[in-house]
Amino acid sequence: MAVVLITGSSTGFGKLAALEFARHGDTVYASMRNTAKGEALLSEAKAANVTVNVIALDVANRASVDAAVAGVIKESGRIDVLVSNAGIGIHGPIEDCDDDEIHAVLETNVLGVIRAARAVAPHMRAQKSGTIINVGSLAGKVSAPFGGVYSASKHAVEALSDSLYFELHPFGVRVVIVEPGGFETEFGANRILARRFNEGSPYVEYEQRFNASSSKLPGADQHESAQKVADVIVEAAKSDAPKRRYLVGQDAQTIGGLAKQMSDEDFEKAMRTVLDFWD
Ligand SMILES: NC(=O)c1ccc[n+]([C@@H]2O[C@H](COP(=O)([O-])OP(=O)(O)OC[C@H]3O[C@@H](n4cnc5c(N)ncnc54)[C@H](OP(=O)(O)O)[C@@H]3O)[C@@H](O)[C@H]2O)c1
Repeated sequence: MAVVLITGSSTGFGKLAALEFARHGDTVYASMRNTAKGEALLSEAKAANVTVNVIALDVANRASVDAAVAGVIKESGRIDVLVSNAGIGIHGPIEDCDDDEIHAVLETNVLGVIRAARAVAPHMRAQKSGTIINVGSLAGKVSAPFGGVYSASKHAVEALSDSLYFELHPFGVRVVIVEPGGFETEFGANRILARRFNEGSPYVEYEQRFNASSSKLPGADQHESAQKVADVIVEAAKSDAPKRRYLVGQDAQTIGGLAKQMSDEDFEKAMRTVLDFWD
């Protein structure tokens, strides 16, 4: 049975993954920046007759990450799986995003992933085994208008995961990226709405037209459960030969697949055909 550390487990994919690993009998450290938010997870675990350990870990704080990892090692002696899941979104045109808002996103989504990987790597290298699963996004493959800063953070996760893959491979440590499309979690409610976008931004009308036509994108009407992402995370962790990347959701698979196969010009043309809002 594996010792699993998950970041951002208070809600969404992190909470579901914590429960799923626990159902598989793993020793789960479900970390969150505010452990008072662990009540929901603990009561769901109790109802499912499984055990999870709620521990404090704020990915935006190096000391907090290091202390959490040290605590897991002290208690369980090893870490077999790290799921770097904590993340926040930001919505608004790049011109309207202020430095503090951008910092908050990069601090969590990019530095947070680095801090967690850096903290577990020495233990996994010493074990000569381990799996790091970084939660990226379809937004890490394709950048849409009004999501540029979030996309930049998730493109960074792609790059970091690839470098980590090659760096840790010789030590027997595996690195995987899970790339979900749109799923119903607390993500939308938690995301930052760029302040200046609310203050007479010239982009508002354009954004409304974009949102209205986005419903025509392939997979936009998907209503797959967020559990699917948790299942893929656990599947990747348990696989003898995990894939490098897992696009999850019909939207991610379709749009991510098209973007990969097509030239930039052909992809833009295809998107313009669907998103018939451009002048
Ligand atoms: N939902 C989607 O459609 C979607 C699609 C693609 C990728 N993703 C990615 O999936 C991951 C999980 O998101 P979700 O959809 O499950 O959204 P969510 O329900 O909002 O969960 C995000 C989690 O991250 C935590 N978090 C935020 N900042 C943190 C910090 N500094 N330290 C530790 N934890 C922190 C949140 O904790 P608090 O409760 O304390 O805020 C929350 O537990 C994110 O990386 C997100 O970018 C989501």
